[in-house]
Amino acid sequence: MKSIVLAITGASAMQIGERCIQLLLENDKTVDLILSKGAYEVAKSERNMNIPVESKAQSDFWRNKLRVKSGKLICYRWNDHSASIASGSHKTKGMIIAPCSMGTLGRVASGFSLDLIERCADVHLKENRPLIISPRESPFNLIHIDNIKRLATAGALIVPTIPAWYTNPKTIEDIIDFIVVRLFDSLGEDLNNIKRWDGPIK
Ligand SMILES: Cc1cc2nc3c(=O)[nH]c(=O)nc-3n(C[C@H](O)[C@H](O)[C@H](O)COP(=O)(O)O)c2cc1C
Repeated sequence: MKSIVLAITGASAMQIGERCIQLLLENDKTVDLILSKGAYEVAKSERNMNIPVESKAQSDFWRNKLRVKSGKLICYRWNDHSASIASGSHKTKGMIIAPCSMGTLGRVASGFSLDLIERCADVHLKENRPLIISPRESPFNLIHIDNIKRLATAGALIVPTIPAWYTNPKTIEDIIDFIVVRLFDSLGEDLNNIKRWDGPIK
C-alpha cells in the first residue's frame, strides 16, 4: 500500500496534524511522519509536550497519546536526507503539510529544500503527486500571499486552517475535524471515524 507523507511544522494548531495521524492509523493507513525542528519547539511551548526525536520512541509516543494500535507509522528526523521518501522513486499517495509555517511555506515555494519536509514537498511537486498545504498565520503579509500563489500555481492544493462557521461548531474538536475532512478530501481519502458536515440541522 502506498504511504501518505504527513508533515507537521512549527506553526500553531499542531492538533490538526495530530488528528491526521490518529485518523490515518485508525483507518489502517501507512504514515510517513516528519516533524520540523520548529514543530518540537511549538509542541513544547504551546502544548507542554516533549516529543522524542528518535524514530521508534516517537512512534510509541504517538501511539500511546492517540490510543491507536492499527496502521503503520514511520517517524523521520527533520534532517534525514537519506530517507526513502526523499526520492521520487519511492511512490506515495501524496503529502499533507499541516499546519504549515510561513518558514516552510516560503522554502517550498522557492525550491529551497534544506530539510526533509521541503525535499519531500519538492518531490511531490516534481512527480506531479498531490501536495496539500495548510498554512497558519494571521495576518498574511504580501510575501506569504505571493508564496501561497506560487505553490498553488505549481500544483499544490492550499487548505488553510480556517474554521467554518456554517457548521455551528461546539468544540475545538469540531473545528479541527472540519479542517481535517477538507485536507483528506483534497487528497481523495474518504476516512471512517470522522463526522462530515451534512447540511444545516432541520
Ligand atoms: C508557540 C509558537 C507558535 C508559532 N506559531 C506560528 C504560526 O502559527 N505560523 C508561523 O508561520 N510561525 C509560527 N511560529 C514560528 C515558527 O515556529 C518559526 O518561524 C520556525 O522557524 C518555523 O520553522 P519550520 O518551518 O521549520 O517549522 C511559532 C512559534 C512558536 C514558538
